[in-house]
Amino acid sequence: MVDTRQLKDPEFLAGLFELADQYKAAVAQHRAARPHEGRIVASFFYQPSTRTKLSFDAAAKRLGAEVIGTENAREFSSAYKGETLAHSLRATEEFADVFVLRHDRSFAALEAARTIAKPVINAGDGTNQHPTQALLDHYTISRHFGRTDDLRVAFVGDAERGRTVRSLAYLLAHGSGNRITFVSPAGTVPEDMRRYLREKDGVTMDETVDLEAVLPDVDVLYVTRLQWEYADAADQARLKESYHRFQVRREHADRMQRESIILHPLPINTEKSDGFPEIAPGVDGHPRARYFKQSNNGLYVRMALLDVLLTGPEHPLYGRIGPLPEAGT
Ligand code: NCD
Repeated sequence: MVDTRQLKDPEFLAGLFELADQYKAAVAQHRAARPHEGRIVASFFYQPSTRTKLSFDAAAKRLGAEVIGTENAREFSSAYKGETLAHSLRATEEFADVFVLRHDRSFAALEAARTIAKPVINAGDGTNQHPTQALLDHYTISRHFGRTDDLRVAFVGDAERGRTVRSLAYLLAHGSGNRITFVSPAGTVPEDMRRYLREKDGVTMDETVDLEAVLPDVDVLYVTRLQWEYADAADQARLKESYHRFQVRREHADRMQRESIILHPLPINTEKSDGFPEIAPGVDGHPRARYFKQSNNGLYVRMALLDVLLTGPEHPLYGRIGPLPEAGT
């Protein structure tokens, strides 16, 4: 599962989220749910991660599976010696039952899924996609509003490089009646994403630079950080000039509707933002802020997904995951 374009089947999402609810209840009640004892999940992380790595590890362990892998694969794996990703995966394919991969190169997860027969989960590939983040975002939205259709969602921040934005926007596009507004510097919505969203009947999209204007009627304000690690020095300087205009502060949260929520995939860029983190610290305790709950939901959604993939074709949801997309598109 490398791309949210594989997740068009509403029955898959509904079933996965029910499973996530069951695991959430089991964890809260300290009930042991260890259906995958004796199985192994391999986790290859070529890029830093806190919550994605920890939640995948915790999810596998709570299901009874063991975790092997390397957290800093660039330095601590044979990649350091010049080995390709494909060789590393082919050489270890039989060690584990499911492979979780985070990589700095877009479409690395697709390449991995085409290289080995074992299921590959994309835990973030470059500026392309982060589908399990989108699943936990969608789950959070679904459990808050009781629906994932007819919603107005504003993506505030780095639409150009934010892989979580593309992944979630595509899931929303598979629903019906959703309205997406990109609130970001003009001209930064990638062409492929704009094309995909325009093609889909389930969604309408527009773009603005005016954060204030979207606040009163938005259901979800989905904020992302400036992805400085993918921008060259000139781009960083250009973007920094405008990004303070997209900072969400308490007075913005106050102007949102009572039922609306603020999400963020985290981390918030607090220490590397020249004093303008994309969400000001005062918002954390605001009743609209849901990003810590959202992050914690990642455990249950990843338990559900690992359960499906570790069970394999006999799981009723397994066959509802669509085919891999075309290479590099
Ligand atoms: C995101 C990512 O890695 O794309 N982090 C995460 O996994 N929650 C978001 C980000 O780094 O901005």
